[in-house]
Amino acid sequence: MATERTFSMIKPDATRRNLMGKIIARLEESGLRVVASKRILMSKAQAEAFYAVHKDRPFYGELTTFMASGPTVVQVLEGEDAIAKNREVMGATNPADAAPGTIRADYAQSIGENAVHGSDAAETAAEEIAFWFAGHEIVG
Ligand code: CMP
Repeated sequence: MATERTFSMIKPDATRRNLMGKIIARLEESGLRVVASKRILMSKAQAEAFYAVHKDRPFYGELTTFMASGPTVVQVLEGEDAIAKNREVMGATNPADAAPGTIRADYAQSIGENAVHGSDAAETAAEEIAFWFAGHEIVG
């Protein structure tokens, strides 16, 4: 096992419903540590750039409009196997498929409004962290 960093977002559906603290508690209770955090209102252009990998998908417009619709908490999580651990704690993308006790099973409303995002691999984690944070903003 190795100490890793991963990128995490608490999405507008969750901040709107005042779930920021409950979600961060789940992450911390799993052993992950928040080493960078800021609450932002991303622009549509930022959402389009962040999710550019999905630009040809039918849900791209809906996804990027939603992500610019309210506050998002962007954060960096650190811990043993942080990328896989975060994905385990989040649960499946579609809350209908998410295991009981996961963040998405308990707090997500739909596949689009699914409460949280987490990087899926080491390379994307590094890219996603660098998209939102300068090195001096990450305080391990
Ligand atoms: P996330 O982990 O942020 O990565 C891409 C997001 O696209 C995903 O979570 C979902 O919220 C969203 N997404 C995936 N499939 C669909 C879909 N069929 N309709 C709307 N949004 C989707």
